Amino acid sequence: MGRLLIVSNRLPVTVKAGRGGAVEIQLSTGGLATGMKGPHERLGGLWIGWPGDLEGLSAAARDEADARLAEHRLVPVPLSADEIARYYEGYSNAILWPLFHYSAARLPPEVSGFDVYERVNARFAGAVADQWREGDLVWIHDYQLMLVPAMLRERLPGARIGFFLHIPFPSSEIFRLLPQRERLLEGLLGADLLGFHTSTFVRHFASSALRLVGATTEVDRVRWRGREVRLGVFPMGIDAAHFDALARSPEVEERARAHRAEGTPILLGIDRLDYTKGIQRRLLAYEALLRAHPELRKKVRLVQVAVPSRENVEAYRELRDEVDALVGRIHGEYATPGWSPIHYLYRGLAPPDLVALYRAADAVLVTPLRDGMNLVAKEFVAARPDGDGVLVLSEFAGAAAELAEALLVNPYDVEHTAEVFHRALTLPEDERRTRMALLRERVLGHDVHGWARAFVAALEQVEAAGGRVE
Ligand code: G6P
Repeated sequence: MGRLLIVSNRLPVTVKAGRGGAVEIQLSTGGLATGMKGPHERLGGLWIGWPGDLEGLSAAARDEADARLAEHRLVPVPLSADEIARYYEGYSNAILWPLFHYSAARLPPEVSGFDVYERVNARFAGAVADQWREGDLVWIHDYQLMLVPAMLRERLPGARIGFFLHIPFPSSEIFRLLPQRERLLEGLLGADLLGFHTSTFVRHFASSALRLVGATTEVDRVRWRGREVRLGVFPMGIDAAHFDALARSPEVEERARAHRAEGTPILLGIDRLDYTKGIQRRLLAYEALLRAHPELRKKVRLVQVAVPSRENVEAYRELRDEVDALVGRIHGEYATPGWSPIHYLYRGLAPPDLVALYRAADAVLVTPLRDGMNLVAKEFVAARPDGDGVLVLSEFAGAAAELAEALLVNPYDVEHTAEVFHRALTLPEDERRTRMALLRERVLGHDVHGWARAFVAALEQVEAAGGRVE
């Protein structure tokens, strides 16, 4: 039996220089890193990825970090400051990220950094090739590494290579704006299996492959240059049993009770501070709610947790200022000496604190403008063993394809979103419980372990089927 080699830009832990240059290792944030952690622990094998910015660490401290990573079967691919600026912050997060989330207006006038993206992708392919042994499966993740499948195919023609995209694959009308569109498609088509969260993303990919590189496409496969590449829908899950158990722990229940002690209903938002998450429109909808329903003033709270992310990318810095200003404005207008309409936290939370908030919330507001899946929606559901609580979910999150019992909203329709927030606060208990029971069945029944197993099984099958056409 071969091993599973997981490859992603970010490792599940991030190495940093702490006080006095000491090695500090923290859990990474984001759906990919948190989600794949469990399967990596269970399935064995290696995880190859960037350990974070090692600036400020001495050579000895870097060796120590490597040794600690190795204990967890993690293989670091370090990046230089220039690579971080041009591959990670630049091409990946200032070009691919906004475009794949339909924000073409955020593209800089000149698309640059592809040369560095290519160089770093080649480095990742080299790191995988160094580790690969006959029989190993390679599973590459996400938009930062779209050239790796073809680069690896060239070095290891017989390897079984899978790729999963954690973000939306946009309509071909959007994708074709990219100057490097053919190169990226050719990169992906080096894989044997390409996985996406939804069938819409599969269709978008297939039509791009057809229109831009002339691939022959069928529902679940693409033929190109004598090879066949399978396409699959694999909606990612979470470690639902873990969230469920944590939510039942006395420690979390106690904290949740403390949150509820004030007696005012809690609306909750939890996001990486990212413009795709729709935080501003959510705040505007909350403001509209307070305006339209004066009876709710002093009677409701919005707890908004924004986890710092990609702070060196300009759009993220601007967003931080904009959200700060909006929170300030709503405060200025509605706060009283004894009541704060918004509790805004700009930091990450430890899992028990996060789950206590999920457990205490009357409704969780997941209103991204675009999202590949959104695992916060699933975490909230798993963290409600009491069977209560309302999920408000954007139509534009991949999760909406699975979680139809949520209250769905179009986040661009601020007034209507405000009314849905009101509905969430006033939904009768039996309806809340019916919806939550159905949501829990789905989230607990399709967890991240089943997801990873399904992908790996499909990848193994591709090999059994030959994966080649003449
Ligand atoms: C999203 C992406 C991941 C990424 C995460 C956090 O979930 O799909 O690939 O790791 O955001 O972003 P970061 O840039 O900090 O890795």
